[in-house]
Amino acid sequence: MTPLEELWSLQGQTAIVTGAARGFGAAIAHRVSEAGATVVVADVRHDEATATAARIAAETGGSCHGQPVDVTDEASVARLFEAVESELGPVNLLVNNAGVFSNYYASELPAQEWTRILDVNVTGTFFCSKAAARRMQNRGAGVIVNVASVDALASSAEGLVHYTTSKHAIAGMTKSLAMELAPSGIRVNAVCPGAAMTEGAIELIMDGAPDGIDIEAQWDGIVDRTPLGRLCQPDEVGRAVVFLASDMASFITGVLLPVDGGILVQPLEGYVPAGISTGDMARPDPVAGEDAP
Ligand SMILES: NC(=O)c1ccc[n+]([C@@H]2O[C@H](COP(=O)([O-])OP(=O)(O)OC[C@H]3O[C@@H](n4cnc5c(N)ncnc54)[C@H](O)[C@@H]3O)[C@@H](O)[C@H]2O)c1
Repeated sequence: MTPLEELWSLQGQTAIVTGAARGFGAAIAHRVSEAGATVVVADVRHDEATATAARIAAETGGSCHGQPVDVTDEASVARLFEAVESELGPVNLLVNNAGVFSNYYASELPAQEWTRILDVNVTGTFFCSKAAARRMQNRGAGVIVNVASVDALASSAEGLVHYTTSKHAIAGMTKSLAMELAPSGIRVNAVCPGAAMTEGAIELIMDGAPDGIDIEAQWDGIVDRTPLGRLCQPDEVGRAVVFLASDMASFITGVLLPVDGGILVQPLEGYVPAGISTGDMARPDPVAGEDAP
């Protein structure tokens, strides 16, 4: 049997993590570096990406590099892959993490904001996957991990129609690419994190939300509804990504892995909490005019 240590290792691999200058991406890049891969911190914020890469390299002792990319621009994505290949060798792992979010009621969502969210989250993920797939197919191996969200599987809060649509699209893209690329030895999976206080999330809260959406109450409500009783830590997403990227997950493709403290399995109304027998529960009042059952 292959030793566990070897199964977890990403030694000798080259990985691109998009949107990794900060937030989940930086936490993912850190763990991927710790697992032994040479890591490219690719972000539209080039200076921040370079600084994050330097910090990660100092912390893990690994090889970590900042590279500019705008994932919505296919030519920019092509330049990223060409630069990485010529300087660091073939890309074995792509983590599509770059993503943006905002809060708007559907009836007030500007067309350009709809397009911006779909462009970065969906088209950006596709352009990077396309560039990686072509190269990985030639070599007959590779792994893609998409950072989706609980919003890929459910609608988590009001004011997110554009975001939830984009993340459901990533769920579809993950499954479709997993089918198409499996014969070439390429695995494609997604992690679906719950809410976390990343830099992007803090900016969202500080910016405020449209009238009628109390964004702070929304975030408090997430904690209340999460069975594990807290927000997600970015590092917990990093750990899940390393699992899916590694040979620990060698027979796993096309899955959407929640990293959500159980929020997607929160009890339906009428759930019986542990330790309470149904006999102790108050019966609902009969509807006026109807006989009690
Ligand atoms: N924070 C959360 O609560 C949460 C929950 C579930 C999923 N997610 C997802 O996790 C991912 C990361 O989110 P985060 O919270 O860390 O956000 P963040 O804003 O802290 O970080 C996102 C990074 O993506 C980069 N980026 C944005 N547009 C880009 C582009 N066009 N090209 C390249 N890079 C670009 C930004 O510069 C930034 O560094 C996103 O896909 C987001 O949808 C976040």
